Amino acid sequence: MLVLGIESSCDETGLALYDTERGLLAHAVHSQIDLHEAYGGVVPELASRDHIRRVVPLLRGVLDKAGCRREEIGAVAYTAGPGLAGALLVGAGFAEALALALNVPAVPVHHLEGHLLSPLLSADPPRFPFVALLVSGGHTQLMRVSGVGQYELLGETLDDAAGEAFDKTAKLLGLGYPGGPQLAALAVRGRPGRHALPRPMLHSGDLNFSFSGLKTAVLTRVRERSPDEGEKADLCAEFQAAIVEVLAAKALAALKAIALKQLVVAGGVGANRALRAALDAGAQGMGARVFYPELDLCTDNGAMIAFAGAQRLTFAAAAKQAGGFGVRPRWNLQEV
Ligand code: KG4
Ligand code: ZN
Repeated sequence: MLVLGIESSCDETGLALYDTERGLLAHAVHSQIDLHEAYGGVVPELASRDHIRRVVPLLRGVLDKAGCRREEIGAVAYTAGPGLAGALLVGAGFAEALALALNVPAVPVHHLEGHLLSPLLSADPPRFPFVALLVSGGHTQLMRVSGVGQYELLGETLDDAAGEAFDKTAKLLGLGYPGGPQLAALAVRGRPGRHALPRPMLHSGDLNFSFSGLKTAVLTRVRERSPDEGEKADLCAEFQAAIVEVLAAKALAALKAIALKQLVVAGGVGANRALRAALDAGAQGMGARVFYPELDLCTDNGAMIAFAGAQRLTFAAAAKQAGGFGVRPRWNLQEV
């Protein structure tokens, strides 16, 4: 079956065609970074309007790339939450209308389930059960994943998500938008340890996180004395080292606690090279393995939604007749 996936939960419009036998046929993403850059963050109304502009051309693009006709689409999966309500409604409305017109099922997908299952799209995928570290702009969670739809929360952030901490800290250091990749790029030129920052909850004895204090610690430094370029790079290096150390320690502790040997890393922060290095080294030391989605599938995209939709159709009979629908701006993955 050919499944169309549509992602529009935040500032990326992503469309993809996944075939349950042939795999991923095409995917395309339009990022709104330029649109929101001047504001230093995503402006929800602008995001919704841009999704409207992009969704039809992107659909044509993926159909062309895959060499498929619209009539061959067998189901339409879309992100139903969590995310920005208006942005979600664009994708949901478009997906439901298309499904109705084609007389095929519509499949509402949880955005984080998309991220979580995305490493299964790679050539050498993990097998269930595994531990998943979800690190995005909105979430930081450790999960035990036993199968499609079987997600047990092991720990999560008590305040800011890891990506959010990267973004906010980058902003207060006057770096560009989006902050995570910019902060990571500057960190390469700095030395960790010159400005000691805390490792929040490293020894808390549970699998929870807290990142808002780290951002505040950087803010305090910056207020004491505005840093020059070299000091900024050192601060970035130390900030990144602190986040990476805590994320890696807890993810590996989760593997140990439930005696699993496979760790899946998903979400935008999973693109961070320092995090990957720390996880790979730590996992190797305990005979475990870390799985990442392909780099272009780390951040938001339609491929993960098409794939998660296809899994739901196969394993969870989650399709519904196109028609009445809603979106869930707030939505716990365990409720899926
Ligand atoms: O998964 P994602 O694309 O969107 C959400 O669902 O949130 O994640 C975006 C987040 C942003 O906070 C961004 O700054 C962060 O991922 N990010 C990074 C890197 N690339 C993206 N953070 C640190 N290092 C990176 N290389
Ligand atoms: Zn995401």
